Amino acid sequence: MMPKLNLTHDYYTGEYPSLLWEMTICQSLGDGHGTFAKALEKPAAYGALVAGFLLAETSLSSDCRRVIEIGGGYGTLMAALLTILQPQQIDMIDISPALLQKQQERLSQLPISFHCSDLFKWLPTLKQESVDLLIINEIIGDFPTITGLTKAALAEALKPPPAAPDSSLNPATLNDNDLLREAGRLIKTYNLNLDDLPETFNLNYGTLLFIERLAETGIKRTFITEHGCDTYLPYPFSLFPAIQPPTDRNPRQIKLKDHDEYNIRFDYLEQVAKKLSFKVKRFHLMDLLKVRFDDEINYLLSSQKPVSEEQEIFLEFYEHVAEYQGIILEQ
Ligand SMILES: C[S@@+](CC[C@H](N)C(=O)[O-])C[C@H]1O[C@@H](n2cnc3c(N)ncnc32)[C@H](O)[C@@H]1O
Repeated sequence: MMPKLNLTHDYYTGEYPSLLWEMTICQSLGDGHGTFAKALEKPAAYGALVAGFLLAETSLSSDCRRVIEIGGGYGTLMAALLTILQPQQIDMIDISPALLQKQQERLSQLPISFHCSDLFKWLPTLKQESVDLLIINEIIGDFPTITGLTKAALAEALKPPPAAPDSSLNPATLNDNDLLREAGRLIKTYNLNLDDLPETFNLNYGTLLFIERLAETGIKRTFITEHGCDTYLPYPFSLFPAIQPPTDRNPRQIKLKDHDEYNIRFDYLEQVAKKLSFKVKRFHLMDLLKVRFDDEINYLLSSQKPVSEEQEIFLEFYEHVAEYQGIILEQ
């Protein structure tokens, strides 16, 4: 069995009507006035919560110089973020011409530069630039994932010393031998532990490559969220077996309309980022959102028996958000 690369490039650059049918957390919370937002202690739009979290947890200031979002979907996060932050320069980068068009329509009143590009091509242009904040929300699951890696094939690939990273390499064009060589390089260079994985497993290759490339830029802090395969719920949600996400640490295929994503092994991201001298903060998305926990939610999560349409929506939201975590990388 040879490893394969899961790519979403053709999907996002195509004309699929299903583009962003996926219900991201950002889209679920919308402008902060819908039913999902009522599951929060203080209902608010996702982008405003992200801005507040960054101001509290990092040295970012609200009048910072430059903010960039890559993969901004419908522009929902940025619209709300800019109600809290007032950067002097804002850029939105997206591989999808159709979604970039949606962002331009949504944010037409604001002084934003829009760029249609693959982030792996665009990131090197930031080598000499100082950027206060990069937002990468629910997109790393789309980055190239190597599937069907076997420990036996890797053992062969790991025999010679690892090659130096090639910063011009385009992850979307790797052949089968390159895949094994690149997987071996990352595993050896960053001492990634394979002991807790089955003989055949998947590797979030593009995400680890992205962190290597990030270290070569002048981006001071990067905010990342995604579905995780090593996500543990914070207390008291950790007490409810029905909403515990799987934690087997092997990135899982998420089948979506017209494309597939993989969830993320965050401990590898943390390990690579620390080795590259980033300051790292990991968090569960429930802590950022400050989801409600009161008698109603306690009963709902214990009984799993909603008694109204609103509770049905709450239950769906708690089950969905349970798998998400985030990481802030500062340099
Ligand atoms: C799942 S959507 C998330 C949208 C939004 N951030 C949210 O949370 O609702 C993924 C977004 O990333 C973009 N994207 C995917 N791969 C990309 C790449 N390699 N470079 C730039 N943008 C990319 C897609 O076009 C889309 O806007």
